[in-house]
Amino acid sequence: SNRLPLIAGNWKMNNNHLEAIALVQKLAFALEDKDYDNAEVVVLPPFTDLRSVQTLVDGDKLRIGYGAQDLSAHEKGAHTGEVSGSMLAKLECSYVLVGHSERREHHAEDDALVNTKAKAAFGNGVVPIVCVGEGLQVRKAGNQVEHVLGQVDGALKDITAEQAEKLVIAYEPVWAIGTGEVATPEDAQEVCSAIRTRLAELYSPEVAGAVRLLYGGSVKGDNAASIMGQDDVDGALVGGASLKADDFVKIIRFGD
Ligand code: G3H
Repeated sequence: SNRLPLIAGNWKMNNNHLEAIALVQKLAFALEDKDYDNAEVVVLPPFTDLRSVQTLVDGDKLRIGYGAQDLSAHEKGAHTGEVSGSMLAKLECSYVLVGHSERREHHAEDDALVNTKAKAAFGNGVVPIVCVGEGLQVRKAGNQVEHVLGQVDGALKDITAEQAEKLVIAYEPVWAIGTGEVATPEDAQEVCSAIRTRLAELYSPEVAGAVRLLYGGSVKGDNAASIMGQDDVDGALVGGASLKADDFVKIIRFGD
């Protein structure tokens, strides 16, 4: 395909702004002589790090993108503790995670809220990385495709074809997140190919062909290539292994 692979590092609640600067510098150094024209590398730090990361990336013209891990469903006003899409846009965030399983599980985010947040992101010119994925019970019952397609339908309600073609969807089976238990390449391909078929039904084959589908859940240097080698897997959403520059760089494919 001609989809540019995307490798996104979700730092979760790790690294203060000084640590963020150090990690991005190490990552830039590790990538310096490498040929990664055929991949896009992005970090997703905590909100408090974004200004520092912006300054570093911008000042040194680094070929590292960045974005946030969440955004408010609201545009502005009396929403204590929330951060709006327009604030992220002002910091030149390219991406924002929406509906990560940890948000769905611990912050009661349902498909309707995920949809509102995805629209808030698009409305501000920030591309949402919509996260979907089934838990262990659903997987054991063999209902993973149906479950994930339900999440996709919910997340994309009223999102236009013009917006959808820029979209990124991350398939993260919840049982594989932070557990060291990675999905097989075939598991990842099964669900990603079903998502792409659904995108073709909801929009068009062209839109479906443009959307990048990432796999997430215990991606490491030694399993990344086989998973990303699947036809419908266009990159990875990396948690733990994105916290050390050397580990993260091992996931990025160079010169192929
Ligand atoms: O967003 C990233 C995922 O939750 C995966 O995390 O690579 O630590 O399993 P992990």
